[in-house]
Amino acid sequence: MRRANARDFQAVSRHHTDIDARDGIWHFVFLTLDRGKDVKQIPWILTLLFATSTPLLAYKFLWQGEAVPASDGRKAILLTPGERDLVLAEMRGFLQSVQEIVTAVQQQKVEAAAVAARRVGAAAQKGVPARLIGKLPGEFKMLGFDTHRQFDQLALDAEQLGDPDHTLEQLAALMGSCVGCHTAFRIDPVTEP
Ligand code: HEC
Repeated sequence: MRRANARDFQAVSRHHTDIDARDGIWHFVFLTLDRGKDVKQIPWILTLLFATSTPLLAYKFLWQGEAVPASDGRKAILLTPGERDLVLAEMRGFLQSVQEIVTAVQQQKVEAAAVAARRVGAAAQKGVPARLIGKLPGEFKMLGFDTHRQFDQLALDAEQLGDPDHTLEQLAALMGSCVGCHTAFRIDPVTEP
């Protein structure tokens, strides 16, 4: 196979002058591919692209989510109206369970607290669509998952120990997560592009 010479390179460069500099990486890829048609380079280019893009994509999809700085200093998670409805419905479920647990403790009926807590345990998350999960920032998901898990623990302890004071203590600790997440995040509805 003939190696590329300087004239080839100039021709290819002229050919690609219309490519905007912003497409730098693709420009580079096209040039390299065109130049010598040297296929041996392709795996290296792909490896390079893969190595640089994977951590960025992982950050984008697993951690950052669809969140932007909001006017009140929180992070606004951008969801469609339907997705927002779903998250807020889950939130009202949390609030209802909290109300029922407080009532149960006050009436010394710890079994009722277990029932209310389990309704918003980890199993309640099963129906959340993958597309929505992908939009939630990692910190939000961890806090959310941990809150569901704490409700499960509260239910388990309420059944096994039957101690209203212990249940109330767990609820107080758990509600730190409600406050923490509301301080950090809000949800802004957006229409899909
Ligand atoms: C992982 C984050 C997170 C956790 C944990 C969390 N929330 Fe929320 N909650 C939110 C966000 C975000 C909103 C939307 C707030 C906004 O847009 O201003 C919200 C909204 C709400 C709303 C309003 C619902 C509506 O219909 O408007 C209620 C009530 C609520 N949360 C209760 C709770 C309770 C109770 C807990 C704890 C048991 C809790 N949340 C835990 C993130 C969270």
